[in-house]
Amino acid sequence: MINDKKVLFSGMQATGNLTLGNYLGALKNWITLSDEYECFYSVVDMHSITVRQDPQILRKRARALLTLYIAAGLDPEKNCIYYQSHVSGHAELSWILNCYTYMGELNRMTQFKDKSAKHADNINAGLFTYPVLMASDILLFQADVVPVGIDQMQHLELTRDIAQRFNSIYGDVFTVPEAYIGKVGAKIMSLQDPTKKMSKSDENPNGSIYLLDDPDTIMRKCKRAVTDSEAQILYRDEQPGVKNLIDIYCACTNKTADEVVREFAGKGYGDFKTAVGEVIVSVLKPLQDEVARLEKDKVYIDSIIKNNAEKANYYATKTLCKVQRKVGFPDRIR
Ligand code: TYM
Repeated sequence: MINDKKVLFSGMQATGNLTLGNYLGALKNWITLSDEYECFYSVVDMHSITVRQDPQILRKRARALLTLYIAAGLDPEKNCIYYQSHVSGHAELSWILNCYTYMGELNRMTQFKDKSAKHADNINAGLFTYPVLMASDILLFQADVVPVGIDQMQHLELTRDIAQRFNSIYGDVFTVPEAYIGKVGAKIMSLQDPTKKMSKSDENPNGSIYLLDDPDTIMRKCKRAVTDSEAQILYRDEQPGVKNLIDIYCACTNKTADEVVREFAGKGYGDFKTAVGEVIVSVLKPLQDEVARLEKDKVYIDSIIKNNAEKANYYATKTLCKVQRKVGFPDRIR
């Protein structure tokens, strides 16, 4: 607990352009939960270098992502919005927790398998131990809740296992976190292949709506979305393309799937796709305008970066000192 509130931690990688999946699966829930919890939202730039990055582009994207968190409606005076790399406790805890995580556990991670297949020329140790760094992010702040999309569930389970293992040896050191998965939007699929999740790293840009896509591009991508030849707007697994568009529509309008099916009964796919495009534009346009406004305010964003890194370091150090004592590192002489 911090200030009598439970703690929330979440993060996103500054790799590639954020998609509507990132927004509906995670960021939107962050905003809903932000009043109820003491929140830490990190731009996880240390995770990003598990895949080769152009340093200048990474730096730029990290700042753009931090700005986007604020533009999306997270008040940086109340929520701790910061760069992971500015808080050395992440790396320090990660080293310790590496020693409490089994190779077999990491070998089972599907994201590692996927990413190592995709980057066969660079299967580095960081890619393998990536989930331990993620566990450290969460445990460093004693988070009670972690809002994520479904694709991160396996990492969350591992985090819980590591926390419980550590606690069973050393007593109650870590809060064991719960995942928070939103009711809608937890797995937005590609518009071009609705059996695959919408992803920043998809090679086909038509599969993803990027948060900074202009309205024409959004409309065009929606109109091109892959559906089927059933010619009926129903929410069922046999029609994955239509189902995904209904999910997107629901998440953007807060309507239920039943309501959407009723609203579009008897209408064609063309009309429905146009309506989906329009609700996406109505959600993303204000966000894009706010990003553009904030990007000009360098002094303000810099002050947020500085102040929130200090706040994050304060809480991170508290946990880290406790953990270091527990494992037997000598006390510092002050
Ligand atoms: P990342 O950067 O891939 O994604 C950020 C968040 O977006 C969610 N997400 C989706 N949700 C619904 N549909 C989709 N198509 C979709 N694609 C992505 C993800 O589930 C995630 O919540 N390892 C994490 C970052 C991370 C983290 C953490 C998250 C590092 N440390 C600690 C939570 C807590 C990742 O790569 O997310």
